[in-house]
Amino acid sequence: MQTLVFSTNNKHKLQEVQALIGSKFQLKTLEEIGCFDDIPETGATFEANASQKSHYIYERFQLDCFSDDSGLEVDALDKEPGVFSARYSGSRDSEENLQLVLKNMQGKEDRTARFRCMISLILDGEEHFFEGSVEGEITYTKSGSEGFGYDPIFKPAGYDKTFSEMSGEEKNKISHRGIAVQKMVTFLKSVTMD
Ligand code: IMP
Repeated sequence: MQTLVFSTNNKHKLQEVQALIGSKFQLKTLEEIGCFDDIPETGATFEANASQKSHYIYERFQLDCFSDDSGLEVDALDKEPGVFSARYSGSRDSEENLQLVLKNMQGKEDRTARFRCMISLILDGEEHFFEGSVEGEITYTKSGSEGFGYDPIFKPAGYDKTFSEMSGEEKNKISHRGIAVQKMVTFLKSVTMD
């Protein structure tokens, strides 16, 4: 079985990705490889941040690894919170961040938004990128209790419920991270066939 480090300590992300990646790959978290650093994410784009995280791990541990950087882009807010999604309100508290989006959206008619995800994979020292996105809209109030982050206020296009009202499996099929991970899994299978 091939080991891959997923540079995250976000348990929700880990669950989502583990469900998609299957049993051929053993995922290890940062904690499991003994990395407790606050890995810098200073890029201006999802791609730059994902790449920065993967290089940080690869340079220190020389292990095959991947990192994702993801976030919510709201059109009426000039694509904010974007790369600042994890700490839009200045804190990492997802309730505060979500409430700030709802507040800033008061009186806005254009509710369109998307989640985006970029994955940087470093395999045998070479970097590969995989991207996913999902279009949708920002609701007026929260609903649902599944998921994390902005899930309770994001309704994917074509659905009458938020990500938080979906099961993990249902969300994974259409989500930005689900799409990017599926692309990575297809690539990994093509290069690691034995
Ligand atoms: P990252 O860990 O730097 O990629 O930050 C991503 C942030 O974007 C998270 O902390 C969430 O606030 C938000 N986010 C990313 N993906 C999702 C998702 O699938 N659902 C809800 N919020 C998400």
